[in-house]
Order: sequence, then structure tokens, then C-alpha cells
Amino acid sequence: MAEVQKKPVKIVETVLRDAHQSLLATRMTTDQMLPIVDKMDKVGYYAVECWGGATFDSCLRYLNEDPWERLKIIRNRMPNSKLQMLLRGRNLLGYQPYSDEIIRNFIRCCVKNGIDIIRIFDALNDIENIKVAVDETIRQGVHASGAICYTISPVHTLDSYVTLAKQMEALGVHSICIKDMAGILSPQQAFNLVTALKKAVNLPIVLHTHCTTGLAFMTCIKAVEAGVDVIDTAISSFSGGSSQPATETLVYALEELGIHTGIDQSVLKKINEHFTSVRQEALTDGTLNPIVLTTDTNALLYQIPGGMLSNLISQLKTQHAEHRFYEVLQEVPKVRKELGYPPLVTPMSQMVGAQAVTNILTGSRYHIIGKEICAYVNGAYGTAPGNIDETLKNLVQEKQQASNTISELPKSMSAAAKELGELAEKEEDILSYLAFPQTAISFFKNRKKEKEHCCPYMITQLSE
Ligand code: CO
Repeated sequence: MAEVQKKPVKIVETVLRDAHQSLLATRMTTDQMLPIVDKMDKVGYYAVECWGGATFDSCLRYLNEDPWERLKIIRNRMPNSKLQMLLRGRNLLGYQPYSDEIIRNFIRCCVKNGIDIIRIFDALNDIENIKVAVDETIRQGVHASGAICYTISPVHTLDSYVTLAKQMEALGVHSICIKDMAGILSPQQAFNLVTALKKAVNLPIVLHTHCTTGLAFMTCIKAVEAGVDVIDTAISSFSGGSSQPATETLVYALEELGIHTGIDQSVLKKINEHFTSVRQEALTDGTLNPIVLTTDTNALLYQIPGGMLSNLISQLKTQHAEHRFYEVLQEVPKVRKELGYPPLVTPMSQMVGAQAVTNILTGSRYHIIGKEICAYVNGAYGTAPGNIDETLKNLVQEKQQASNTISELPKSMSAAAKELGELAEKEEDILSYLAFPQTAISFFKNRKKEKEHCCPYMITQLSE
């Protein structure tokens, strides 16, 4: 009797985005990627995640790179692959909400420069915050993936996730992604969640998790057992620790189970050789701290993502208060509860972390309240998953720090263009400026200087 054909599972490779965001603080340069992208184009991945998240900020702020140019180059060099990006809903790639006009223009430019799949999430799982982005992605004719931020709290039940997935399906998304940024989704919960989502919606289900707590491989296998369609992995030299589970390992295990991935395993070896040398460079220059490569089960105890833990440590270090780390760790869940249990993902993870540090270091809870927290309490970021603490609400009112505007960003494309003047060379520059005004300005000024410097040389070269 012929063997029953098992459903294949597709693979998204994250090494060009999340893997180095998780391990190298997003410092991988385009030059470190390019020597291998031609080979990556031939592996048979479902998609390559290569843009969005923190890569945009990091390009402009630390790498003196134009993120749009990076995307264009990768697009050009990977003609056969679907390129995927991560988008923070209404916040785009920044930390605060934008107008519909800006959201639509941003997404149009992402697609124009080569993006095929936009994975869209909102830090609060507020469906209102992803509506416009999903709509524009569909309008641009590319794949809109609705991402559910997975977290554990009394208000985040299986039912709440199913409801969210149904709302996303109604918006017209093409797939649903379970986004487990902290690596706290257990094998059993993954099985339950994938099973429930498969029953509730008629869309492919994607699993995105992190190895932080050591659960990821088991979680992926149980998700596959429940019928998950796509999983995110990272090439082995950039896997594990706070990154994704290893591509080679999962492909090996799945193929042995008779589950095809469509991946050419012989090419993976060459890709891994390349990234092994990139990892070695990062270890040597200190960009990669070996600590992030290990398993850290604290997240299971405190439900705090790995990236947030290292942020808290560095915040305390700068204030010479490292010895108060455990007090802060205990304060984080309290603050989170008082804010109505937001998932700890950008920008909520930073906001909750900063408030917890302030509460501990000032010795008086909410004596000082961050302006972003005030705006959040007033609804500027959307609807909180649970109830916001009444005492905190009153405190925000009393302190009259209440404000709905978080900073003075230009409200429209034309206002931003006017502010930028001749520094803007293309429409993408206006969007970079809207995302990170100060950083973009320094980048543009630098670019101008470099051009002025390099032009006479170019002319000499050409005239010879
Ligand atoms: Co991630």
C-alpha cells in the first residue's frame, strides 16, 4: 500500500532580519549579506525575511546605510525569492502611530522596492491598528500576513487569539502568523493554538518563535503535528539562543518524518559556511555577545523577552544600579498588569521596562510617569488588552502629563517634504525622515558630504 502523502511544511529563512536582530543587535551590513544571496535565492525557501523590524533604524543609525537601497539590492540579487518584511502596524517601523496617508505611502514604497510579503502586527493585538496597513498591502497586490503577538496573561486566552484571527481573516489577510517574540510558547500550547486556529480560519498558519527558553524545536514539531503550514528558521550559525531554531536541523527532522520542505539541503551547507565567518567576525569585534547564544529560562519565570532583559541590564548599568536587577524583574509584571497586560513587544516592551526601572530607582511607584505611558493610558496607542488600573489612570490625569501626542512628527508627506527640503533626493527619503527624523537628517547630511567629496574623483575617473 502506498504511503499516505504528508502535508509539506514551508520554511522562512530569517538570517537577513530577525536572526541578526536577535543576536547582533541588528548590525549585519549589506556587504556581509551580498556574497551569499545568490545561493540563498536557490534554496527553495517559502520566503526570506530580510527587511523591516529594527533593520530600518539600524541601517540609518549605526551602519550609515540607506535601508531602501539595501532592499533594492537584495531584490535585484534574489529574483526568485519572496522577500518578507515585518511591520509594526500603525507604527510602521517606528515607535508611534502614523496617519493613514503616511501608512499607505510607506507600504506602497515597500512594494515598489521589492517586498512580496508584509507581516503586520500590533503590540497590543488591537485590530484597529493593523487595518490600514493590511488594506494597503492587499491593494498593492502582495501577501498580507496578520501576526498575533503571543503572550501569557489572564486576558490572553485561546479564545481571544481565535477571535483576533477571525477578525484578521475578515480584513482579508492571506495568512495568520503566531508571533512568539519571547520564545515562551510551549509545545502543548502551540499544538492547542494551531489546532484552534486551523479550525477557526481558512488560512495558512505560520509559526514564528525564538529559542530563548529552549522550547522552540519542540514547539515547532508540535505545531507541525497540529498542521502548521510555515515555520520560521535561521541558518544554523545564526540560530539558537535568542534567535530562531536552526534551518538545517528542522529540515533534517521534518524530512525524516516524511514531511517535505522543498529545501535543497546541499545549498544550506554553503550558506552556513558564509554566515559562520560573519558570526566569527561579530564574536571577534564584540558585536555578538556569546550570552545571547545560550538558553535562558528566566523568560519562563518572568515572561520577559530576552531582548528586553538585556535592555534592562544596560539601562541599570548606565545608572550604576545593576544590583537592583531582581527588584526591577519583579516590578515588570506589576507594571504590565496595571497597564492591562500589553504583550511585551516593541514599543510596549521598552515602555514597560523603562517605567519599571523608574519605579524602582525613584523609590516611589509612578512618582514619575513616562510621557509614552501617559499617552498609552490615554489611548494613543490603541486599546489595551485588559483593564488599565484605575489608580494609575487617575494619577495620569492628576499629573496633567496627559497627552495624545508622543512627539512632534510631521503629520503628512507634504509637511515632511517641506521640512526636509533639498536633503530629500527621493520619496523614500521622506519616509525615512518620518520614521526617524534626527537619525535620517544626520544620514542625509552625511550622504551629501560623501557625494561632494567623491564627485571630483568620479569625474577624473570618467575623463580618463
Ligand atoms: Co522575532
